[in-house]
Amino acid sequence: MTTVGVVGLGYVGLPLAAAFAEAGCQVIGVDSDVHKVHELAAGRSYLADVSDERLGAVAGKIHAGSKFEALAGADAVLMCLPTPLTPNREPDLTPLLDATRAVARVLQADQLVVLESTTYPGTTREWVVPLLEEWGLAAGRDFHVAFSPERVDPGREDFTMRNTPKVVGGLTEACAERAQVLYELVCDSVVRVSTLESAEMTKLLENIFRSVNIALVNELAIVTDRMGIDIWEVVDAAATKPYGFMRFEPGPGMGGHCLPVDPFYLSWRAREFDVSTEFIELAGKINQQMPYHCVSKVALALNEAALPVKGARIAILGVSYKPGVGDTRESPALKIIGLLLDMGGQVRYHDPHVPALAEFGLQSTALQELLPDSDVAVIVTAHPEVDHELVARRSRVVVDLRGATRASRAGNVVRL
Ligand SMILES: NC(=O)c1ccc[n+]([C@@H]2O[C@H](COP(=O)([O-])OP(=O)(O)OC[C@H]3O[C@@H](n4cnc5c(N)ncnc54)[C@H](O)[C@@H]3O)[C@@H](O)[C@H]2O)c1
Repeated sequence: MTTVGVVGLGYVGLPLAAAFAEAGCQVIGVDSDVHKVHELAAGRSYLADVSDERLGAVAGKIHAGSKFEALAGADAVLMCLPTPLTPNREPDLTPLLDATRAVARVLQADQLVVLESTTYPGTTREWVVPLLEEWGLAAGRDFHVAFSPERVDPGREDFTMRNTPKVVGGLTEACAERAQVLYELVCDSVVRVSTLESAEMTKLLENIFRSVNIALVNELAIVTDRMGIDIWEVVDAAATKPYGFMRFEPGPGMGGHCLPVDPFYLSWRAREFDVSTEFIELAGKINQQMPYHCVSKVALALNEAALPVKGARIAILGVSYKPGVGDTRESPALKIIGLLLDMGGQVRYHDPHVPALAEFGLQSTALQELLPDSDVAVIVTAHPEVDHELVARRSRVVVDLRGATRASRAGNVVRL
């Protein structure tokens, strides 16, 4: 039976651990966060994507702890560490390198180590491999190394780990082969690329593609707003073209752990090669401006109602970074709330997935209480559980940043 080690039991690592356990493997999970380890030991999941029932069904198969020594018994070790940016927007490999050093100390001959974290091309070969080799074993000879990016979209049910093809690049052919055999336990299709760097770059291309296209439609939303053209109608119409067009929707900016962060890993790396990545920078600039544009739409809508932002009772609907999830990392809602508070607005919010926003000392308020007591409702993230047409009917003024009220002809709705 295969024993799989997973280092970093977060949004990527925990679903991976569950998938391998469901495939019949023994899973050794390691995380430096003792709270997560305790929760897992008690059979409780801290992620919406992995239910307690799902964990319960594989209870005897996942062994979580904080000690790396437990990994000595694993056939493969999958590294799912965070790869954030520093305050200066440069790659911060500290968690990844700390964990790699810890894995190196317990590394065994014949183990396979796979990096799943999103990072710039060259990270695995130039940082991970040398650290793993520090205790005398040689990569490609004594143990195997591969890179395989995580591609699953949290909250999504049509494409899961099972039916999302898994891209794999190895240090050697044998490394790639070993990783392919492993991932075939949990994925229907494994796509081999020839190098570690191609695999690292594949993930960045996917995320940069999204970031640039979102920026493009956001820029067009600003232009069409000035021209008095409804961008949502334009996007709907363009999307009827059966080829050569892919639908992207405008919005208040990009959030989550990936899109606002990953492209800058490549920009940073490209500078070492005397290349500046203009598309990435421009997309970042446009997407970062969107919360400001959206706040000016709120101010204009309040102005129409003869109200200043200062003192206005503002209801923010949806604060997570995308519909159906409770993840608020880099959510544009946080920026919008901060800007409105700075202008003296009285902000409250409703989000069925986010009970509290500790950074603002706010708690989610029920819609029936919030709407009658607000001057404006701002739809920032359109959760499927919220009836936005009803919101439009019950609110004095609505600013819809997601096109959630597209069908409404109500005169109190202002759309992005
Ligand atoms: N969240 C996503 O949807 C997603 C999708 C694709 C790729 N990714 C990439 O996958 C990687 C992991 O992302 P995530 O969202 O799972 O992050 P996360 O923060 O949810 O999880 C990372 C885990 O690693 C643990 N950790 C940190 N330092 C550690 C250390 N030194 N030793 C042991 N454990 C440590 C943390 O406690 C945390 O539980 C990132 O590179 C991210 O860009 C994320």
